[in-house]
Amino acid sequence: MRDLLPQYDSTAADAVLDADARSAVVDRLLTARTDLVRDASNSSGQGVFEPLDADFVEWPARLLDDEAELSRIEETGAEFRERADEIVLLGIGGSSMGPRALFSALCDPYHNERPRDARRNAPRIYFEGDNLDNNSLVALLDRLAHITDQRWRLLVTSKSGNTIETAIALRVFLSALEAKLGDAVEVAESLAVMTGAESPLRHLAVTLGCSNIFTLPDRVGGRFSVMTPVGLLPAAILGLDIRSLLAGAAEMTRLFGEADPGDNPPLDHAATSVTAEEHHGMHVRVLSVWSKALEPLGLWHDQLLAESLGKDGRGATPLTAVNTRDLHSRGQQHQAGRRDKLITNLLVDESGNIPLVIPARTDDTDELNRLAGRTLDEVLGAAIRGTNLAYAEDARPTSDIRLPRLDEFAMGGLLQMLMLAVTLEGYATGINPFGQPGVEAYKRHMQNELGQ
Ligand code: PA5
Repeated sequence: MRDLLPQYDSTAADAVLDADARSAVVDRLLTARTDLVRDASNSSGQGVFEPLDADFVEWPARLLDDEAELSRIEETGAEFRERADEIVLLGIGGSSMGPRALFSALCDPYHNERPRDARRNAPRIYFEGDNLDNNSLVALLDRLAHITDQRWRLLVTSKSGNTIETAIALRVFLSALEAKLGDAVEVAESLAVMTGAESPLRHLAVTLGCSNIFTLPDRVGGRFSVMTPVGLLPAAILGLDIRSLLAGAAEMTRLFGEADPGDNPPLDHAATSVTAEEHHGMHVRVLSVWSKALEPLGLWHDQLLAESLGKDGRGATPLTAVNTRDLHSRGQQHQAGRRDKLITNLLVDESGNIPLVIPARTDDTDELNRLAGRTLDEVLGAAIRGTNLAYAEDARPTSDIRLPRLDEFAMGGLLQMLMLAVTLEGYATGINPFGQPGVEAYKRHMQNELGQ
């Protein structure tokens, strides 16, 4: 099982970073781990921080034991998969980025363009309610009105139930759904809602007669919610194996609690990050993903790090790079710019598709026959090794997170690893990783601008 989880390797970073400093950081992280594990199993809601949104730690294992809730998610997923041709998922931040990361990592890149039987019999999926972009909403409404198979349904996620972007989009799409169906029972059946125990969105769903309401756990914050119905219901609709996702995450939590430093991916990753930042002034964390399918995972991680640790004038700046694409844009700065960056490579061992072989040509005018017969993966491997050697030669630290393959188990393990690492860092450095008070300021000014 351990072999199917993400592996973490900091050998290249260790050659650059101060070893004594790292070992002192590891000691602090071990103390922090004790506190976090205790808070995660403490049902009283009291712990090191307030709010204490530590339930994400044990959530995957708990849900795997809750057959009734798990079956309900799967059955609703199956029903939506069968009865809808399009899903419009409304949500923002933690209510959108997790499902997007899963969709991109685990579904075909042309999912929405493929016929039904070539996309696991799953509906197309569109993400909205994550902006106040008039043209984007109009374009999707237009798209839904003009496609031939128009059995579209709505999935709405908002823990608070009052986030303005999502709430406005819901009004717009609900009106369109009501106009199309003209029947209140059908409208209610075409809607699934994921929200907090007390929220205006819940009241609206109840008023509409919707029975597909999933209550989000109180002590799991939005950006930590991908292993709750927030990520699991869309995944089930897409035909993904949600038990395997949860099993990967639960196994990562087990490893985190039990394994020693050196064999503990969340703790080891946090150790490199904190050492680089505190002792070497590396305030920029580049997550360098070597697969296009992982870009939304990178954006999910940007939010996780930014909202969890960007507080009180502190916290590293996250940045996702997609390589080799960004070697041709950000690469110059990462190789030769300020020494303020720690680069973490996210690598997938098995590409999982038909290996493309570079074809030979009789003319060879592009002089590429020297590579004819080699696979694209071989060339990518050379790019990865070459880039990291170049960083090492200039004492620029890198570490690797390596997935054996891109499947549900590994993704569950990866998401949980990153959530644990960021939270552990907060515990060890005294930054409350939960809540996002800084986001409220713009909302307050916006309400004033709207005269409310
Ligand atoms: O991590 C968080 O809590 C936030 O990013 C929220 O997910 C985001 O602000 C959306 O909030 P809500 O789900 O209440 O609409």
